[in-house]
Amino acid sequence: MAANNRQHEAPVRDFLTDIVRRPEDHARFMNMLSMLEHMGSRKIMVSQMDRTLTEDVLKHLAEEARHAYFFKRQAERVAGKSLDGYTQDNTMERVPALMYFGRLDAGISAQVTDEEAYPWVSLIIELRACWLYEIYNDVLSKSGLKLSLKSLLAEEDMHLAEMFGMCGQDTEKLQRLSAYETELFGRLWNKLCIASPVAKAA
Ligand SMILES: [Fe+2]
Ligand SMILES: [Fe+2]
Repeated sequence: MAANNRQHEAPVRDFLTDIVRRPEDHARFMNMLSMLEHMGSRKIMVSQMDRTLTEDVLKHLAEEARHAYFFKRQAERVAGKSLDGYTQDNTMERVPALMYFGRLDAGISAQVTDEEAYPWVSLIIELRACWLYEIYNDVLSKSGLKLSLKSLLAEEDMHLAEMFGMCGQDTEKLQRLSAYETELFGRLWNKLCIASPVAKAA
């Protein structure tokens, strides 16, 4: 996954470095992350409705809900106002973000059994979350903003390890599904860059 994503690293870092300097856009970006975290949490809940809800699953969905809350709260702090819901106005690239999540979920679910959907969809999302938040946290620490993703990253790392354990060793499947996600991520990121071009020429 890391090798496949090397191409994205520099542009993502540039984008984040630029956006954290612009409070209004930064807030909208964080509200988008909040929306994705919220969707993740809700997805876990819905997918486990007809099953025996375990403590592990409940913990996972509660933590994703807390991540949604974390980004919402930070977005409001940076914006200096409340950002209710996830609207076109207060959420950066709302529709592409919804599409990213929807396609990811549908595409992966179609390639695995019903039983496998929860761990595999989660695993692929956790890979992206860890990858992105690692870069984002580094950018934030250099920005002087009092915002750290440290505890959030620790939780995503735990989820990743847990999902790895559930999915078992299937390197071929992992590479295939991860490549599928990387393509969707590339598309979403392109939209973000178009919507909010890095202010290079300034
Ligand atoms: Fe999360
Ligand atoms: Fe997670």
